[in-house]
Amino acid sequence: MLPLANKRIILGITGGIAAYKCAELTRGFVKAGADVKIVMTKSAEEFVTPLTLQALSGNRVHQNLLDIEAEAAMGHIELARWADIIIIAPATANFIARAAQGKAEDLLTTILLATPSLIAIAPAMNVEMWTDKQTQTNVEILRKRDVIVLGPSSGSQACGDVGLGRMLEPELIIDSVTQSFQTDILTGRKILITGGPTREAIDPVRYISNHSSGKMAYALASEAVNAGAEVLLVSGPVMETVPERVTCLKVTSADEMLHLVLSRMQDVDIFIGVAAIADYRPAKEEKQKIKKHKNQIDLTLIKNPDIISEVASLPNRPYIVGFAAETENILENGIEKLTRKNLDLLFANDATETFGSDVVASTAIFADANFTIKSGKKSAVARHMLQIIASKLPAN
Ligand code: C5P
Repeated sequence: MLPLANKRIILGITGGIAAYKCAELTRGFVKAGADVKIVMTKSAEEFVTPLTLQALSGNRVHQNLLDIEAEAAMGHIELARWADIIIIAPATANFIARAAQGKAEDLLTTILLATPSLIAIAPAMNVEMWTDKQTQTNVEILRKRDVIVLGPSSGSQACGDVGLGRMLEPELIIDSVTQSFQTDILTGRKILITGGPTREAIDPVRYISNHSSGKMAYALASEAVNAGAEVLLVSGPVMETVPERVTCLKVTSADEMLHLVLSRMQDVDIFIGVAAIADYRPAKEEKQKIKKHKNQIDLTLIKNPDIISEVASLPNRPYIVGFAAETENILENGIEKLTRKNLDLLFANDATETFGSDVVASTAIFADANFTIKSGKKSAVARHMLQIIASKLPAN
């Protein structure tokens, strides 16, 4: 598989002479399997043409914040959420200063503020400008905001000076971006994730279920593997493709899910219950299809087992993470569930927007704290969730 397959990259280009290297950078990203969208500042266009970058990326180039046509196709907030990573190369001293101040005066700076994704910059400028105290302060501010700073490297510069300030070569930038998707925060950890809905049979052709798409569980499984974990996904019926290197076992009903989960708990370090398990099932599954000649039928429902609570009551229980889709009083309901089910952490999502959607807004709830996670694409949110989980685990 290509190293950046399925990855979405926004390449932001600002106005420095190193912008000419962006053609090669774009080609490299595309060759590595990424879907690349280019955002250019006005001054970048003095150095390289949008047409070149459009041809190389295969996507239309985004230039203006206030462009009715571009906003109708993909608005700036949508663009900010679309990316897995935003890389600014070259990042000029002026751009770094504007980003450090949190300005939102053009498309690129606005996207930086609006994105939940990883941000990386590849500074490129004259050596004196790079070593200037103000530039260094600005870079430090960005680092504190978790912006990855790639380079600069040292050597002869376009202005004739020699020293630090050259943009990192495209192949090194591509390597760094690839590595940023493969952080090892969960190396050596075994994770069991439940996902998707369950189906509770009424008769051979009918069942009770819910709208869960499995997208969050599959995004977590994919990101957990990227973070070095061994992942077992126990999934109800969904349309999602099983991510590379994830072991996936399919089940249908809550009872099947419970038995499979309990039989696979050996050596599990982290249990993440994302599945939307049907709360009730028909007391009796009819052997033959129920005929529809009556105007009314009665269906008796009985409560399904609570899988996550059963896992929480095991001796040597793993670190347990629950999910709750709530439509109101998200925090209060989340805290109640965390306590009642005896969980270590619970992510409470807004159910009005989460089911089937590619984006999600979530609140992380612990016994003694809670905080809102930046909303965004499920893959970016999943990465953030795993960082939170990894930071809470006892050392292995
Ligand atoms: O459905 P509910 O809001 O109670 O789900 C909260 C958490 O409990 C989720 O992590 C879900 O996967 C888990 N759960 C479970 N077994 C059930 C119901 C929910 O493991 N029967």
